[in-house]
Amino acid sequence: MILILLGPPAAGKGTQAEGLEKRHGFRQVSTGDMLRAEDAHGSAIGHEAKAIMDRGELVPDRLIISLLDRRIAAEAGRDLILDGFPRTVPQAEALDRLLAARGLEVSGVIVIDVDDAALVERIVGRFTCADCGASYHDRTRPTRVPGVCDRCGGTEFVRRADDTPETVAARLAAYHEQTAPLLPYYRPQGKLFVVDGMAGIEAVAREIDSVVRGLAGGVAHAKVMRGN
Ligand code: AP5
Repeated sequence: MILILLGPPAAGKGTQAEGLEKRHGFRQVSTGDMLRAEDAHGSAIGHEAKAIMDRGELVPDRLIISLLDRRIAAEAGRDLILDGFPRTVPQAEALDRLLAARGLEVSGVIVIDVDDAALVERIVGRFTCADCGASYHDRTRPTRVPGVCDRCGGTEFVRRADDTPETVAARLAAYHEQTAPLLPYYRPQGKLFVVDGMAGIEAVAREIDSVVRGLAGGVAHAKVMRGN
């Protein structure tokens, strides 16, 4: 199954992708994480992407599509959860082509719907474990033991360079202008499922699980975008 998690910055895509890996055996493919890894390794792609990401803009389609192509090849045969890709209509079209060339197609697109005002609070409170990347939030998802990662026991934590109030505005603008047009791209294909991302993490997970179960069972759920 190839599932796409779509949503504005800090909607909870990474949080839910992590849960889907644990509960359903999906492999998470996060293009944001891939770009940050390229930067950490000092590659030319990472260098080019870093300045763009720090401004809160989207990296060029050609760059991200070639990264994704390589990753899909490396993950052959696995159920994938695409977190943060596609983000533009040309990326969605390229994804359809990449998958079709392998006899695959997108199974479903889950939109995590969150009000813009809530996103800023989520972004400024976010921190991750420096060792394993587990994601937390100062208020809504602190570590069980203060200063110790629940997952790996690490004690070093980091905050992302683009998680600033200034950059958030640009990231939200990029979402509304370039990524939101994906909804009318996928809706006519009957692949779009909208979950209420304003609910708590567990409630969102339950809604996503019901979509995954429906897709696995071949049931077509029709959901209408809130406010649309
Ligand atoms: P990327 O890394 O994908 O960032 P993003 O889309 O901005 O999303 P985030 O990772 O910030 O948030 P999330 O939705 O995963 O939320 P999370 O689960 O962490 O991309 C970064 C940059 O890379 C882009 O700006 C762009 O430059 C570039 N890029 C990446 N892909 C690209 C592409 N395809 N094309 C072009 N450029 C690309 O949750 C956030 C916080 O909220 C956490 O603290 C969490 O604990 C908390 N939280 C989660 N769910 C809930 C809930 N239900 N209630 C309360 N709190 C919650």
